[in-house]
Amino acid sequence: MGVVFAKRMSAMKPSSIREILKVTERPDIISFAGGLPAPELFPVGDIALAAGRVLADIGPRALQYGTTEGMPALRSRIALEMETRGVGCSADDVIVTTGSQQALDLIGKIFIDPGATILTENPTYLAAIQSFQCFQARFRPVPTDDEGIVPEAVDELSRDADVRFLYVIPNFQNPTGRTLSAARRKSLYEVAVRRGLVIVEDDPYGRLRYRGEHIPPIKALDEAGRIVYLSTFSKTVAPGFRTGWAVAPAPIRDKLVIAKQAADLHTSSFDQLTLERYLRDFDNAAHVEKVRAAYGERYAAMDAALSSSLGSGFSWTRPEGGMFLWVTGPEGLDTTDLLRRALERKVAFVPGADFFPGGGGENCMRLNFSNSSCETIREGVSRLADLCAGR
Ligand SMILES: Cc1ncc(COP(=O)(O)O)c(C=O)c1O
Repeated sequence: MGVVFAKRMSAMKPSSIREILKVTERPDIISFAGGLPAPELFPVGDIALAAGRVLADIGPRALQYGTTEGMPALRSRIALEMETRGVGCSADDVIVTTGSQQALDLIGKIFIDPGATILTENPTYLAAIQSFQCFQARFRPVPTDDEGIVPEAVDELSRDADVRFLYVIPNFQNPTGRTLSAARRKSLYEVAVRRGLVIVEDDPYGRLRYRGEHIPPIKALDEAGRIVYLSTFSKTVAPGFRTGWAVAPAPIRDKLVIAKQAADLHTSSFDQLTLERYLRDFDNAAHVEKVRAAYGERYAAMDAALSSSLGSGFSWTRPEGGMFLWVTGPEGLDTTDLLRRALERKVAFVPGADFFPGGGGENCMRLNFSNSSCETIREGVSRLADLCAGR
């Protein structure tokens, strides 16, 4: 008997790379492929205490259903966090989501009709491409350089089509590690207002800056109500909580709540309450400082190892924070093929092509440095450089 799947599934391509990368979970492989935070830094003891206190103090209520928007106490804490990032908002403006990944799915649901156009950076986050593909979006990749997405190109590309939103990762972008300059944030916002464009500003990495000055989010400029801001506790506490948030203008927020209700009713009550208690009782700022320092050291180790071992045909980004850097090799290099050979030497990365919704990037690769020690980074880069040099 045949099984008939929805048409949208044909737009969702299986990633051959994901299959190849399954082997990177083996302990003998040095993996720069995943996007995992460093597990040895998770605040396990503090979280154990916070979870115990939640159960001791409020017992069964911590295990009951909750409201779709999220636990009021956590929403208030998120509003305070937004203030430190430069965005004034109240708890009512916040929706707690099951990771930022759910927010991307909900955004797809409320904005994308089959065939509708969305604008993205080029390259952009792989799982966002997959999420928006599910709604049969038509992608218009926007040229992107060292300062991030080019606002003039956004202006041009949003002129004629049925553009539903622009998706942008302003800080230490996944995959390139690039940061959108303050001047470009302002220009982008002006384009959004002029064109009536919604911007989805996805900011999971903003607090992981280890060099330079914090740049306020585009959302900080948003008097006209054009920006949906997303963030998450995945990188500042732990991804296993699957807890993130969206701050959106009221009409968009209302639609997101309806979509979320249908998706999962609400994000885990116990996870939200444990997170809130952890943030209330323990020093998360000091924890983030520790994470930043460690990632800064790991980035420096990777940058130094690349400098001393990669040949002159290679260049790479020098991110001021986050978890990734982006290597561009000589024209004609095929990093998908390189990955197959790298795995024989027990080192892995993600080939660039997967991050380009419109094709390209075959000579690029994304390297993650947050989940390896400095020593492992040096060894992995040395294996990779030998391969690139044909040794
Ligand atoms: C740009 C970007 N957006 C969203 C996510 C998803 O994060 P979460 O763990 O909050 O679902 C990630 C995770 O790596 C990411 O890199």
